[in-house]
Amino acid sequence: MNKAVRKAIIAGNWKMNKTRPEAKELIEAIKPLVANAEGKVEVITCVPFTNLETAVAATAGSNIKVGAENVHFAKSGAFTGEISADMLVEVGVEYVVIGHSERRQYFGETDETVNKRTAAALAAGLKPIVCVGELKWERECNITEEVIARQIKLDLWEVSKEDVKKVVIAYEPVWAIGTGLTATPDQAQEVCAFIRAQLAKLYDEETAQAVTIQYGGSMNAGNAAELLAKPDIDGGLIGGASLKAPDFNTIVQAAVEG
Ligand code: PGA
Repeated sequence: MNKAVRKAIIAGNWKMNKTRPEAKELIEAIKPLVANAEGKVEVITCVPFTNLETAVAATAGSNIKVGAENVHFAKSGAFTGEISADMLVEVGVEYVVIGHSERRQYFGETDETVNKRTAAALAAGLKPIVCVGELKWERECNITEEVIARQIKLDLWEVSKEDVKKVVIAYEPVWAIGTGLTATPDQAQEVCAFIRAQLAKLYDEETAQAVTIQYGGSMNAGNAAELLAKPDIDGGLIGGASLKAPDFNTIVQAAVEG
């Protein structure tokens, strides 16, 4: 298809891991390994809020970009424990993960709040990585496409054609996250192509071809190349394997070659 027009993006999602000194150490280890990806693959580390400033400082002058793992939709106000898009921008953050299945599962995130967070992130100049994916039971009931179509439509509600090109979609089947169960490359490709078809329906074909779609869910050094070789899989959102510099680098190199 049109892989050449899209940016390949490999993003680490550290989740709730690493203190500041540990974060610095991991980034310093990753930096020289992935330097050759510059201009070919966008490399991002999405880190806990407390590590953002450390990550921005440690990645300065390198080709690694920094992302947060969530953002609130209000500009400011009485939202104890939350962080606004302006606060992230001020620290030097460029990307933000929105609607991760762990947030949907444990913290009451809905498609409506994902949509509001996405709009707030875009308005502040952040690039959202919007996560979608079906539950195991939904796949077993054969409604994966309905679930994904609904998420894409609601999560991107009223996002303009210009703005959607700044959005990265991460297809993360919930049953594959942190379980060691990876979707087969064919399963992942099938849904990523379906997501692109939905984008073409909601926007147009040219826009759909411009959006980076990642796969996430137990992507690792061993299976990344095969997944990334698929025509509609433009990158990966990596959890566990992003916490080990050599493994993360192997995935980045697979994208460089892919
Ligand atoms: P995993 O996590 O790679 O550990 O399965 C992926 C994610 O949650 O983004």
